Formats: sequence, structure tokens, C-alpha cells
Amino acid sequence: MSNCWRLDDGHQTLVLAATDDLLPQVIYWGQALLGSEDCDDLAAAHKQDFTGGMLDGNPDLSLCPEASQSFPGQPGLRCRDAQGAVLHPKFRFVSAEKGWQALALTYSDPKLGLTYQAHFALTPDTGLISTWATVTATNPILLHWLAAPVFPAPHYSTEMLSLSGSWIGEFQVNSVPWTAGMHMRESRTGRSGHEHFPGLIIPECGTSNTAGKAYGFHYGWSGGHRMIAEELPDGRRQVQFGNATDSELTAGLHFETAKLYAVFSDHGLNGCAVAFQRYLRDHIVTFPQSAQPRPVHYNCWEAIYFDHDIPVLQDIASQAKALGAERFVLDDGWFGQRDDDTSSLGDWQIDPRKYPDGLGPIVDHVIALEMQFGLWFEPEMVNPDSALYRAHPDWALGPKDQLLGRQQMVLNMALPQVGDYLFDSIGALLHDYDISYIKWDHNRNLPISDAAQTRSSYALLARLRAAFPHVEIETCASGGGRIDFGILQHTQRVWLSDSNDALERSRIQHGAALFLPSAVTGSHVGPRLCHTSGRTFDMQYRAWVAAQRHMGFEMDPRELTEIEALALKDITQWYKDNRAWMANGDILRLDSADPSVLAEMQLARDGSRFVVFSNQLDSSAQINSRPLRLTQLDPNAIFAVHLLNRDKVHPLSRGNLLLKSQELQASGAWLMAQGLNLPYAVPSSIWVIEGRKLSL
Ligand code: GLA
Repeated sequence: MSNCWRLDDGHQTLVLAATDDLLPQVIYWGQALLGSEDCDDLAAAHKQDFTGGMLDGNPDLSLCPEASQSFPGQPGLRCRDAQGAVLHPKFRFVSAEKGWQALALTYSDPKLGLTYQAHFALTPDTGLISTWATVTATNPILLHWLAAPVFPAPHYSTEMLSLSGSWIGEFQVNSVPWTAGMHMRESRTGRSGHEHFPGLIIPECGTSNTAGKAYGFHYGWSGGHRMIAEELPDGRRQVQFGNATDSELTAGLHFETAKLYAVFSDHGLNGCAVAFQRYLRDHIVTFPQSAQPRPVHYNCWEAIYFDHDIPVLQDIASQAKALGAERFVLDDGWFGQRDDDTSSLGDWQIDPRKYPDGLGPIVDHVIALEMQFGLWFEPEMVNPDSALYRAHPDWALGPKDQLLGRQQMVLNMALPQVGDYLFDSIGALLHDYDISYIKWDHNRNLPISDAAQTRSSYALLARLRAAFPHVEIETCASGGGRIDFGILQHTQRVWLSDSNDALERSRIQHGAALFLPSAVTGSHVGPRLCHTSGRTFDMQYRAWVAAQRHMGFEMDPRELTEIEALALKDITQWYKDNRAWMANGDILRLDSADPSVLAEMQLARDGSRFVVFSNQLDSSAQINSRPLRLTQLDPNAIFAVHLLNRDKVHPLSRGNLLLKSQELQASGAWLMAQGLNLPYAVPSSIWVIEGRKLSL
């Protein structure tokens, strides 16, 4: 019996080794090792010393650390029998199945009737490892916690990048120092949540966006998760991800984690970002019309809120079309008696007061404009003030006296009649009208964390997609409250944030790019006076921020001056001219030597062209902004670089900078080492720099 396994993709090696027939541990993960390396020698070399005040050995930091092995940290599995007695499994080897870049390991505890499986799959084109665990029992067990296969974290690291956030403030990247004990994040709200995006990046010392080693993790589950990054007393470090604790509410015979996606990078944080972006876009999301470019959206929410009036909406749609929109999304307020957010969720029937002839007049108008039509739903929710709740109060999840959220409750999705009702009512509309897009919202937390709810929501999404395969779905939860690779198996776009404040949005987008590609990341041009921040930005700034992702508009087009409309039209046209390669390219976060500049580069998949967005958030501390270094270019190629919006150079810029008047030609090596000198920029303005590789 071999008790050593390795997975390789040319870029990285993962080595697992077991002591006898115990659960194996990751003894190496990183830069590719020689094929001839002897695993048994590596396992022997991996052993660490022990000394006073310790056990007579170091319990393995296995794929599922076991309390029964006297593991000194958090165990990977915590469960009880149906009577409530705590179980301490001792798993022993049963079998290993090694496929082409895949591995499945089975271990069991015959006495307790438990079987544990760990699965690994490598995806060489992205370098991403997906891994998950299952536990099967012969008698029902109560599951408290099951971790996806556990990874060690590097010792050559002093910090971890943990993601937090809030409504209108998603994807904040925080550096948390490694210290004795654990950094624990748990989303107990029944959503992946604004607060605790299920991701973690561990940079080694000295790693930046563009250089150095980093280890990235993302847990693809929308129902709330737990993350543990723990330093043990002996100095070893472990990373665990799994569903939120106690979210399995009943005893069962089989449990499985969602997929944990893990990536090793030797190209800085961008190496992790690119792997996640590509894997999500190329292996998880399925676009109904994959060959078609991402259509420019118009969403009417911030223009009209609940005030639906057909002639006004028709006028808005026509004006949006003239600006370049290709898809019109009718947001909240078209159903039940929904004049504000206090009522009608659950009543997915068209409001005859607002739409006496149904949705036909607005849908037909939009289709006649050659735009696609999309409709907002919040399927998992019910207002106590609704016909649905009055007819079926027992369909709501949780106690009757629970605290409401946005005046609403959550439907118990695990009830088959709830799934059928939602499938039938949403399906009827998709059947009756030419609707090719759904914005699927989820605006409140669950009363309790319940994994069955998430499984049932996924099942409803899958059922609708099977019946209406041409319909694309956007995941929204008060903005970015439900964004993860689990929901993105069923959806194609994220509403990243309810903040259309261009400055805030660019920060949120920058954080999200660690995981999300531009093709799925919605970004809209909001009203001139931002509704969430009360700030005003000019049209160029707002439009360039939106054009960096899947672009859309959300302001009332009737508020635009002629100059604003022209600027928006131009930038939208630029987006359309470039979206095909950008949607398949990589977003690379640049290391800006100037903290007042937030910069990113989007690089075509074949490296032949790029665009840089240099966002002057604030005034620089010194007179000139610092040169901006590019990244991941062919160092030996010459690039032609030009400043696309050089007509926006401010009168305070008086120098003869090359980029102000002409194209610059320089090698990739120069652009990456010296960087670009950009003209003086006023706060809240963006330089857009395009580059093309010249044939040699
Ligand atoms: C949530 C969404 C918004 C909008 C409203 C409608 O807040 O994030 O974009 O759809 O619901 O009520």
C-alpha cells in the first residue's frame, strides 16, 4: 500500500503523505517539484521535532484533523450520534483512486460506522485545485462541523488577507496578522454575506499584487460558511473552510462540504486572482449565449424605484437604447401591490393597477427597440403583508415572532410546495413574455442558518434553468450579499454592490477582482447625485468605472445633459469595441507606488493588448503622481502605448509629457520596470491607457 500521493500540473505540486493507515496530510504544496522526487523521503524530511510540555510526537495536521489523534487545534469533523453522544472518529485507510489529475481517498471508522472521503481535482489551464469532503454514516448522525480537506498555511508569512464588507461596502481586503490561536470568520446569516466573503489569501513575506508567492482559497457555498486560520502551539498553521456550524438541522446519513478552491501563485496576488477569474468564467459559469458579447444593461431601479408608469418606462427604454443599452431590466415594483418595500413579496402576479394590459406594452416596446428584457424577482422571500403569506403562513421559515428584515420573511424553500409555487409563478411569466434575464434578489438574512435552504434554492435555480435555458440570471442580495462560486454555478452575473458611487465602486471592484472576472461583474453608471453617498462625479469618471466590468446604466437618462449623454455614448461605444477581448482577459491589480492612485490593467489572453485604468482617488502627496509600473507583459516585445482620453488633460498640466501628444513605444521590460509617467490628474478622474504589442 502506498501512503503517498502527488498531483502535478507543471506549475505546482501537491504532495499528500500518511503515517501508516492514518489520514494523510499535505506535506508539500507549491512550486513544481522534480518528477523524480521520492515521496517517502519528503515525508521523512517533513517531520518536525518535539520537546518539553508536548506529546511524544506531533499529531498530523491531516486532511481532517482528528481529536482522537490528540490534535491540538480545531478538528476537521465534529459530530454526534442521534442520541447526542459526541463521536471521536478514528479513520483508517480503505482505498485510493488516482485519476488523471484527480484523487479520491476513502477512510473509515468501522466501529462508529463512519466513512470519510476527500476529493481533489486539478485544472491545469487555471492552476486551480478543487477539493471537497464527504462523511457517510450507517446510523444517522448530527453534524456540527465538517471541513473541506484541510490545507497547511505557509510559515513564511506574517499576515493573511481576509475579506470583510457591508452593504454598499463589499470586498474590503484586510490584512490580519498571524498570531497564536485562530482567526475565525463565520457567516451565520444563511448567505455568503456582505460581511464575510468566503475567501482568504495568504501572501508570503514581501508579496505584492504583481510579485511573490501567495496561497488563495475560496469556498463555493451561498448558505453561510466558516473559515478558520489557526496557528497551533507548535507553530504549524491550518486553513479550514466548511458550511456554517450547526447549519444541518436534522440527523442524517450523508453530508458533504461545498467545493473549496485553492490556488498557489508565484505571480503575487494577481496569480491567485487570475486563476480564480479564469476558473469561474471558463469552468463554472455557463452563459446561455456564450458566443454573444456581454450586453450593456439598463436597470431602472434608481431612476423610478416603485413608481412604475408605462409611458415613462417606454421613454426611458428608448433613451437608454439611444445611449447604447442592449438589455432593459425592470426592477422591483411590477407585481402584487408593491408601492414600497412593505408588501407583496411572494405575489408574483403582475400588478393590474400599474400594468392593466400585463407587461406586454413595456416588453414589446423593449423588444421592438431590439433590446433584451429582464425582470426582477426575490423568490425566496415573502412579506407578511401579501396574499401568499395570508394563504400560507406556514410556508415562512422560522418563528412567527422573528425580527423581520426589510419588512419581510424567508420562505421555507425545502417545502416542495414552495418550490413548485415559485417554479410555476416565475415559469408562467417566462413563458408568457419574451424575458431572457432575471435579476434574482435576496434581501434579508435567514432567521437561522439552514443548509437545506441553500440546497433547495440551488435546486429551484437549476429547475428553472433546465426549463428556460435561454434565460440568464443575476445574483443580487442587497448588492453583493450572495456572491460565491456556488451561486455562480446557476447564475451569470453578480450585482456587486448597491453603491453606484463611482469612487466607492472602484474600490469594491478592485477587491472583488481577486476572485471575479470582468465578464460576470455588473457595474452601472448611477445618477449624477449618488443615492447612497450624496456625492457627485462627472460622467467620464462614472462611465469609465462602469466600463471596467460588465457595463450598465442605472440613472434616469432624462437627467442627462447633452454633454453627459455624448460622453456616456462614447465610453459605451469604447466598451462595446473592447468587451470581447476584455471579457476573456485577466484583470491585474497594479502595484501603485502612489497610494492616492488605484490602478488596474486588463490584459488580453494572448498578451497582445492591454488597457490600464489609473484612478486618481485623491490628490497625490507629492506634485506629480508616481510612475505606474505595468505587469505580465512580454519583456522582449515592443508595445505601442497611448493615452486614450488625453483630451481630458487638465490646464494645470503644463509639461511636454510624451503621452499627452503622441504614442509611446517601449519594451515590456521598460514598462514593467520603469513604468508610465502620466499627466497631472485631478482627484476623481481616470486615465485610460491602451497598449498593443507591435509585431517584431
Ligand atoms: C435590492 C437590490 C437593488 C434593488 C432593490 C429592489 O436592494 O440590491 O438593486 O433591486 O433590492 O428592491
